Amino acid sequence: MAAALQLPSYLDQSPEVAARFERLRQRPVALEVSGLTKTFETTRGTVTALSDVSFSVHKREFMCVIGPSGCGKSTLARVLAGLEAPTSGDVRVYGQPVSGPGPDRGMVFQSYTLFPWQTVKQNVMFGPLMAGASRNSAESEARQWIELVGLTKFENAYPQQLSGGMKQRVAIARALANQPRVLFMDEPFGALDAQTRCQMQSHLLDIWKNVDITIVFITHDLDEAVFLSDRILVLDPHPGRVREMIEVPVPRPRHNDQLFEPSFMAVRKHIDNLIHPPGQEHHKESPVLRLVARDPDIV
Ligand SMILES: Nc1ncnc2c1ncn2[C@@H]1O[C@H](COP(=O)(O)OP(=O)(O)OP(=O)(O)O)[C@@H](O)[C@H]1O
Ligand SMILES: [Mg+2]
Repeated sequence: MAAALQLPSYLDQSPEVAARFERLRQRPVALEVSGLTKTFETTRGTVTALSDVSFSVHKREFMCVIGPSGCGKSTLARVLAGLEAPTSGDVRVYGQPVSGPGPDRGMVFQSYTLFPWQTVKQNVMFGPLMAGASRNSAESEARQWIELVGLTKFENAYPQQLSGGMKQRVAIARALANQPRVLFMDEPFGALDAQTRCQMQSHLLDIWKNVDITIVFITHDLDEAVFLSDRILVLDPHPGRVREMIEVPVPRPRHNDQLFEPSFMAVRKHIDNLIHPPGQEHHKESPVLRLVARDPDIV
């Protein structure tokens, strides 16, 4: 029998990666979450979506949040963005308490949230105009953000004329045009096909390199989390709690070939074990799902 592939520990870091994390820890704290709890009162009682969640994210860090469905990822993003108030605990952006939505924080959702009656350029101009910019300066700002996301040729197109990936590029440009200090992204590529998703991940890293922004990115996808992140926050479900904050040992710049490198596979496997502990795969034997007799060739 072939020997199982021996992976290094996900805690092993090359000297370069360890030095990068050392520098990351020296940077100012962009986002600080302390003892965050969020409960919802429902007809079936109190649901604790998040329980005593604490972590901090440093300036220009790229952090992913991962965890099973229902573990409170979207609730976390909404509380951090100020769209929901926490039940208890404290959220600070560069030391300032968050008490509602603000221009220092941007948000990109999975569903397309562009104004369908406006062109790409008008969608991106919206934020600067609301912030009091003149039409001329809003337009020239919008053009720069549209160029950054590679959609200059489409600045006069309407959202329904764009592919899913292009719409999300516009959503990113529109969020960045408000010049937030922290950007929250809740499964922004979740509705895209696999190939477009990969392209968008590389594209997002290019944008992140060129913009002074700290990113908190929520995903279900293990490869996406490892590919993008400096660190990954793993949440446990019911109630949503911090399971582990993981430093990704994969060097930067990231490229697709790294998916098969031992450090990538080691950290991916570790997170997979945290989220899907061995022995908890109940669905495999679920009688409800077995609609035909067993076939030894189909396993
Ligand atoms: N407005 C609400 N009212 C009542 N319960 C809520 C509300 N919003 C979220 N919840 C509950 O809080 C928990 C966390 O939900 P949330 O949507 O944050 O999870 P999630 O990790 O984003 O899930 P998914 O991966 O499916 O997107 C769930 O049990 C959900 O039912
Ligand atoms: Mg969600």
